[in-house]
Amino acid sequence: MSALTLPVARDLDGWRRLRPRRGTLGFVPTMGALHEGHLSLVRRALDENDACVVSIFVNPTQFDDPGDLAAYPKTFDDDCAMLASLGGPIVLAPTADVLYADGYRVRVSEHVDAHELEGEHRPGHFDGMLTVVLKLLNIARADKAYFGEKDFQQLRLVRTMVDSLFHPTKIIGCPTVREADGLAMSSRNRRLVPAQRELAGRWAELLADVDLPADEVHRRLTALGFGVDYVAERWGRRLGAVHVPVIDGGPEVRLIDNVALPPGRGEG
Ligand code: PAF
Repeated sequence: MSALTLPVARDLDGWRRLRPRRGTLGFVPTMGALHEGHLSLVRRALDENDACVVSIFVNPTQFDDPGDLAAYPKTFDDDCAMLASLGGPIVLAPTADVLYADGYRVRVSEHVDAHELEGEHRPGHFDGMLTVVLKLLNIARADKAYFGEKDFQQLRLVRTMVDSLFHPTKIIGCPTVREADGLAMSSRNRRLVPAQRELAGRWAELLADVDLPADEVHRRLTALGFGVDYVAERWGRRLGAVHVPVIDGGPEVRLIDNVALPPGRGEG
């Protein structure tokens, strides 16, 4: 199947026409700029269901910084070509007018976990993320939805939302896919110039070194030139967020990641 023949729904009527009438449906929500991490979710959704829908929507309400939204890579044609090579899920690519016909008057908030770590550094981010995920889950009406563990706090909040609001879609968390040097795959990695990319490997390596205390990881990352938002141990994971510094004219890029801790550590 070529990218040109991939079925794409741009609005609710388009989706009503394309939504399979029978069998199980898997759903993979994305903001495009697809990489192997996304493709692993799509493969799993295709394997475990009769059909799969992938949403591509760069959600403006989850960006706390307009510069970050403007710089976010938008690669729709390449994304469709990658999806077509997997055997063709359906693509749901609604416009902001369709998803936010209410002007974002109605939104979903969580008031405990959403205020720390990412929530503390990106005000409003999780309201925007949860709101768009609930809208997409309601539109897709899938049996299962697949989320990467790389965004661990996001996955945790989506599970909380789905449980709290009795949403019938089952949420499946999938392992982080990494580059050979351990860097978690991310759409933001493509903005790194080679010297930044090399440094980013050190971030992944230090975060994963669970023999080092979190504050020592923080100190070493700072010494390497990273701006560190946090390195923290919560929910049985070590989670971190850093700004890769400007090097060789490459832009400052913010990266997040997390790794599992040995049993009994960081469980609060
Ligand atoms: O993880 C992402 O790419 C986004 O937060 C999501 C889940 C697609 C919602 O916009």
